[in-house]
Amino acid sequence: MIKLLPFAAVLVSFSLAGNASHLEPPLELPAADAAAGQDKAKVCASCHGADGNSTNPAYPSLAGQVYGYIAAQLSLFKSGQRKNDIMMGMAAGLSEQDLADLDAYYSSQKTKPGVVSEKEREAVLRGERLYRGGYAPLQVAACISCHGPQGHGIPLRYPRVAGQHRKYLEDQLLAFKGSYETPETAVRFSYGDIMTRIAFLLSDQQIKDLSAYMHAMN
Ligand code: HEC
Ligand code: HEC
Repeated sequence: MIKLLPFAAVLVSFSLAGNASHLEPPLELPAADAAAGQDKAKVCASCHGADGNSTNPAYPSLAGQVYGYIAAQLSLFKSGQRKNDIMMGMAAGLSEQDLADLDAYYSSQKTKPGVVSEKEREAVLRGERLYRGGYAPLQVAACISCHGPQGHGIPLRYPRVAGQHRKYLEDQLLAFKGSYETPETAVRFSYGDIMTRIAFLLSDQQIKDLSAYMHAMN
């Protein structure tokens, strides 16, 4: 049995209209059907897991992601603003209805918490300090303000980071950073340049520590 989402109605109206800023995903989605989304997600299961919990650290988990975010990222892959050969291919044939349904399905799934070994305690603690307090010397904003105290994100635009694979988190922060350094070869788009600018200011060590902490959050 698939339960329908209480918030499915919200997806009906996320649009660029009114006073929505440039941060809003460039989408206006039809009403979502999570059950149809589960069916459509079958082709995604080999990489993202049947319920959106991926077992390969290079492939992100999608389960429990904030609603709106998955549809927005799929639309960025479709337009080529976010570049990844696999995902540009996967997203190319998806309709707006598919985006809405897939989004509704994955965001309704339960996440599995990440595990970090005891010997990485120091890295996790350093990551936690950065996540909660930011990094004053370079005026790096605290991650907590957009990704939430538990890393659960804020719909529609701030993704969940808690429990996500470390390798994937590191890859993305490095992708944001590289996209800011050399815009002509940018692979990861960020609305209003938020994440590209933040990642640009982080050292590789800080990126490792933050990724360990976010993975350990649940
Ligand atoms: C062959 C493996 C593969 C398949 C099949 C696949 N993906 Fe992906 N997916 C990836 C990889 C790799 C990434 C990371 C891309 C990057 O680095 O930007 C990704 C990223 C994503 C993201 C971005 C997640 C985030 O947190 O930003 C979404 C959303 C997504 N995939 C949805 C889907 C959907 C929906 C399908 C099926 C229609 C699908 N994927 C099929 C490998 C795959
Ligand atoms: C002002 C809001 C804001 C702050 C502060 C912020 N983020 Fe983000 N973050 C975003 C948004 C929005 C996205 C989605 C991508 C985009 O459109 O920029 C994102 C995406 C991400 C992603 C990619 C997730 C995925 O599934 O692909 C990671 C990782 C991340 N942020 C980590 C961090 C870390 C670590 C910090 C603190 C050093 C931080 N963020 C601070 C807004 C923020």
